[in-house]
Amino acid sequence: MMSTERPKPIRKAIFPVAGLGTRFLPATKAIPKEMLPLVDKPLIEHAVDEARAAGIEEFIFVTSRGKTALEDHFDVNFELNATLEARGKQEQLDLVKRTEMPSNRMFYTRQKVPLGLGHAVWCARQIVGDEPVAVVLPDDVVLHQTPCLAQMVEAYNQIGGNIVAVLDVPRENTSKYGILDISSDNGKLVEVKGLVEKPKPDEAPSNVAIYGRYILQPQVFDHLSSHRRGAGGEIQLTDAIAAMIGEVPVHGFRFEGRRFDCGDKAGFITANLAFALQRPELVEQIRSVMKEYS
Ligand code: G1P
Repeated sequence: MMSTERPKPIRKAIFPVAGLGTRFLPATKAIPKEMLPLVDKPLIEHAVDEARAAGIEEFIFVTSRGKTALEDHFDVNFELNATLEARGKQEQLDLVKRTEMPSNRMFYTRQKVPLGLGHAVWCARQIVGDEPVAVVLPDDVVLHQTPCLAQMVEAYNQIGGNIVAVLDVPRENTSKYGILDISSDNGKLVEVKGLVEKPKPDEAPSNVAIYGRYILQPQVFDHLSSHRRGAGGEIQLTDAIAAMIGEVPVHGFRFEGRRFDCGDKAGFITANLAFALQRPELVEQIRSVMKEYS
């Protein structure tokens, strides 16, 4: 659906980072799971970089107890900077400087009780205000020259409305995802007439699943405010988006790139290998180790 009016730009992104990371215990006992590194950059930095590449200017973290390392990561560490400078470690200093975000760009709020992804997004409503917003789940990682969110913003500038990143999953996996009920599909864009959170394979309306990137209109907060419980007894973002159908168009967007589920051990390890293989200084070593173990 083409609109003649240019959609309002996406300036803000929400990063729901309140989860306990139980699947990675004991690694996540004292550090947030979003601080686990893909090669040498924590997952959260990959997510923030992706948002920056998509033109996002304001970064909203929905955190919880025990997540201060995430705030520290984007702050200035004077002692570290001074030490690196004194030792002439310019390359490392440059890497550290890239993580220093201006305070008027970073916003933190807490999800005090774990009531679900929809509730986490709702916690950011005052900071977002009355404008469209991106939501980035840092566990869901995409490897591509044009980062996933930038691909979505490009599509959004053409069609506006709500857009969710999607991928085709094996039918037996529908109960891990939000699933689309499709009214039309041109291969790239999928028009949505319904959404179901984590349906059983025999109840799923399709095998097209939501991946962790969203562009949402602010009406989503009105629907989230009802605090209606959905799948697993949680307040689901999928349900609030479904409730917007008819009011604001919802499209699924098949992004390009290889995707990794870093919320899962095998997915996280695979992502580390794939990202390491992108690095000229590591590629040969990693390839030979992979051969050795295959
Ligand atoms: C969340 C969403 C789900 C989506 C998934 C993508 O589920 O609720 O709709 O498909 O992220 O990763 P979670 O993985 O947090 O259970």
